[in-house]
Amino acid sequence: MTLTSRKNLPITTLTESLPGRSVLILDFGSQYTQLIARRVRELGIYSEIHVPERGAERLRALRPAALILSGGPRSVCTSSTRRVSEPLFTAGVPVLGLCYGMQLMALHCGGEVARGTGREYGPARVRMRGHSRLLRDIQDASNEQGHGLLDVWMSHGDQVSVLPPGFKSICSTESCPVAGMADEARAFYGLQFHPEVVHTPQGLHLLRRFLLEIASCEAHWTPEHVEQRLLGQLRLRTASGRVLLALSGGVDSMVSAVLLSRAVGERLHCIFVDNGLLRRGEAEEVLAACASLDIPVQRVEAAERFLGDLRGVTDPEEKRRVIGHRFIKEFETAAKDLRDIRWLAQGTIYPDVIESAAAGRGKADAIKSHHNVGGLPEHMPWPLLEPLRDLFKDEVRRVGARLGLPPELLERHPFPGPGLAVRVLGEVRAESLRILRHADALYLEELRRAGWYQKLGQAFAVLLPVRTVGVKGDRRCYEQVIVLRAVCTEDFMTAHWARLPAELLESCAGRIMNEVPGVNRVTYDISNKPPATIEWE
Ligand code: XMP
Repeated sequence: MTLTSRKNLPITTLTESLPGRSVLILDFGSQYTQLIARRVRELGIYSEIHVPERGAERLRALRPAALILSGGPRSVCTSSTRRVSEPLFTAGVPVLGLCYGMQLMALHCGGEVARGTGREYGPARVRMRGHSRLLRDIQDASNEQGHGLLDVWMSHGDQVSVLPPGFKSICSTESCPVAGMADEARAFYGLQFHPEVVHTPQGLHLLRRFLLEIASCEAHWTPEHVEQRLLGQLRLRTASGRVLLALSGGVDSMVSAVLLSRAVGERLHCIFVDNGLLRRGEAEEVLAACASLDIPVQRVEAAERFLGDLRGVTDPEEKRRVIGHRFIKEFETAAKDLRDIRWLAQGTIYPDVIESAAAGRGKADAIKSHHNVGGLPEHMPWPLLEPLRDLFKDEVRRVGARLGLPPELLERHPFPGPGLAVRVLGEVRAESLRILRHADALYLEELRRAGWYQKLGQAFAVLLPVRTVGVKGDRRCYEQVIVLRAVCTEDFMTAHWARLPAELLESCAGRIMNEVPGVNRVTYDISNKPPATIEWE
């Protein structure tokens, strides 16, 4: 489980003193901002996302090698964030503006932006102009006159209508004469398209050119470096006293546990609350992994109390609330008797930090109250330690692999904090959990056997609170329905249903209907997110 940091409490962060080695990304509300940060890190460079209002302050603190201004849904012609603070353009730091970011740069540097009459959205082909350092020799094709052509992803309404002094156009489309611009002397570049998305095939190449060649960033962000840095900082901060960790068994909390155990040794105390809402064999797997890694864990058996609290509860948000409260009670009771605790650790990762910041700014709608974000109460008496709060999930997995966590644990799909309670639709009873656990285990077993498990972002079974008629052994039966869900996703914010082979689906369905008592029908969910969410509740 992960929790957001509470006000005024110290947190562990990796970003202290990385002058000239990192990239500062200012987020103007683009749906792709996280993707920009991930791409930059894929190039081995540390990047941080901040709101524009914190730009100047983070520039001073981080002393980045480059600045990237993200896209955004608004129009620079009307937006209140149209003015970014002066220091961003006078600090001598190379700047790359993307879409809205490019338009901001144009306005700021004395150019003009015209409101578009419609949006240009989707694939486009830009033609190179003016031999810029940024685009030189990067192309997907060339035209009859020998101009380089680049396939890109466009998503914009406004466009730069008058170039700022000192800038030249570096690429164009028929409808967008300034699809890219550059002031090479200051290393200011703007692109109207999105190099961070996969639909711009040369996008990573462009980012590499800007960051490594133009801005001279150093690619030092390797798992070894991250691990050493994390361990060093943790040792320094937690020189004495015990560290308490709420272990959920998910990848983030497991990697946090191993890291902390390497840093503080026996001074780590883990509490694992078994809420009875886990998948088959999960608690045992987690505890066995901890034992093999020499991590001491206090197991709290709380299944009956969770189920008791959930009796009669059918509303999904109420389930989350009840589970969250019970978890806190159990955790507090277990922690009450512990002596000499100085720190409370949790496995918050970077997307949690960004998402809670976005939610705080009202940028994201509360679709589900993911109870692990904001979980433990304000009055916990210890300062928070969040060793992974600067890392993306794939980075957490790589650090975990270096620390010796078994691949089966690291590659596990994410599992929601409220567990199977949000996959048993309607009231959660012991019998429903038994059915779901069994069906889910068979499904995952088949997916693994067929080599599909690792190709999926998430896969699980859901138990519907309806009965349908069937026939088993020549007798009528009236039993429940299992839904199989499998999605492909990069960031869990959007997802596509997975095109599992029909034969595989058939063998999963066949096993479930034959082996799980109480189920006589299996369906496959072909809903994308949006509009459906990944979980059913
Ligand atoms: P949705 O269903 O919102 O899920 O598309 C996106 C991702 O979040 C997980 N999820 C949760 N995780 N507590 C969690 O810790 C929750 O209440 C919760 N609800 C959904 C979901 O499994 C998916 O990975």
